[in-house]
Amino acid sequence: MRDVAVIGAGITKFGELWGTSIKDIFVEAAQKAIDDAGVDHIDSLYVGSMSPGLFVGQEHLGAVLADYLGVNPIPATRVESACASGGVAFRQAFLEVASGASEIVLAGGVEKMTDGADVTDVLATAADQEYEVYHGITFPGLYAMIAQAHMKQFGTTREQLAAVAVKNHRNGAKNPNAQFRSEISVEQVMKSTMVADPLRLLDCSPVSDGAASVIVASLEVAKKLSKSFARVKASAQASDTIALHSRESLTTLKSVVRAAQSAYKMAEMKPSDINFVEVHDCFTIAEIVVTEDLGFFEKGKGGEAVEKGLTALECGRIPVNTSGGLKAKGHPVGASGIAQIIELYEQLTGRAGARQAKNARIGMAQNMGGSGASCVIHILEAQ
Ligand code: COA
Repeated sequence: MRDVAVIGAGITKFGELWGTSIKDIFVEAAQKAIDDAGVDHIDSLYVGSMSPGLFVGQEHLGAVLADYLGVNPIPATRVESACASGGVAFRQAFLEVASGASEIVLAGGVEKMTDGADVTDVLATAADQEYEVYHGITFPGLYAMIAQAHMKQFGTTREQLAAVAVKNHRNGAKNPNAQFRSEISVEQVMKSTMVADPLRLLDCSPVSDGAASVIVASLEVAKKLSKSFARVKASAQASDTIALHSRESLTTLKSVVRAAQSAYKMAEMKPSDINFVEVHDCFTIAEIVVTEDLGFFEKGKGGEAVEKGLTALECGRIPVNTSGGLKAKGHPVGASGIAQIIELYEQLTGRAGARQAKNARIGMAQNMGGSGASCVIHILEAQ
């Protein structure tokens, strides 16, 4: 496989974007990425989107977006892996360039969730219909069960869950594209409306519109353009059972463990080599479980780590979700995996502004679908 780099990025603001369509926001992010990279063409495009058919009644998204971006007749493909759709779209672009089939590929992600669909029902299509959804379970409910199990098994506290949201809102306040730019306190999280015990409103990622795009190119193209870029050191993906009841443990996400093993092997790195990480904090408990499963903290100690500030931007051992994460930046599901890659690119090229992490040379992005049935991990390095 050839060496591959990220050479440009573009993102819209995340939140309720009432005045714009799914096509408008995709084109905005994609055009910004093309301009940022300084390329005069792209060979193909991939777009991650979880459920445009149910959210806004639009399928056939690859062709629709290539048309509106004005790049016909290049190949254009929609990729779906629930909330991991964006990360998997990036992996497809990486593989296409690494294989030598293309030189310059656009990897994007988009979701328009606030246009009137029953969001909880649409999101629940990513769970097991027969054994989970039929009985009334929703995603907050599934992650609440994971939280209950983690609290019982390891003594993780309600305050530790809240500390994840407090940190991510603090980082989000420094991100101009974030949906929520307000700092919150542990008390506010603990007093917010109960959603699924023990998870409250401020433990949840929000419902969002948004789009994000990056330009992926061969190392030769990246060097010719002679601008700062980030090299892709690893791309790995793994799967687990779709339903929680089929798992040996509720407190370990096997797809995360397996994808991480493959990513570390491919990059010839270990957890201590990673300087900062964007993880899939769709609910506060997810960040705690994932930082353990990626090997940054001992199993059961993820809650303590965030409470002690070990994941903070300012003085953390490993800053986690410098962008504000899904919690504060927002979670337009198909776009989130690409937005994570953009945070890595901005940090690694020194363009993260007020949220710039110290010594950001190697970053990891972990994106997952459903309650962890799919997981995709990338490691990028500054050049
Ligand atoms: N974090 C912070 N504030 C939030 C929020 C969140 N997650 N969700 C909503 N709010 C705020 C809104 O901005 C609004 O504030 P305002 O009154 O100042 O305008 C207020 O809370 C009520 O918003 P509303 O849209 O009525 O909330 P809701 O009750 O319909 O939805 C949740 C709240 C938590 C149920 C919804 O955000 C949700 O389902 N989140 C999870 C999404 C999910 O499952 N994603 C996939 C993960 S696998």
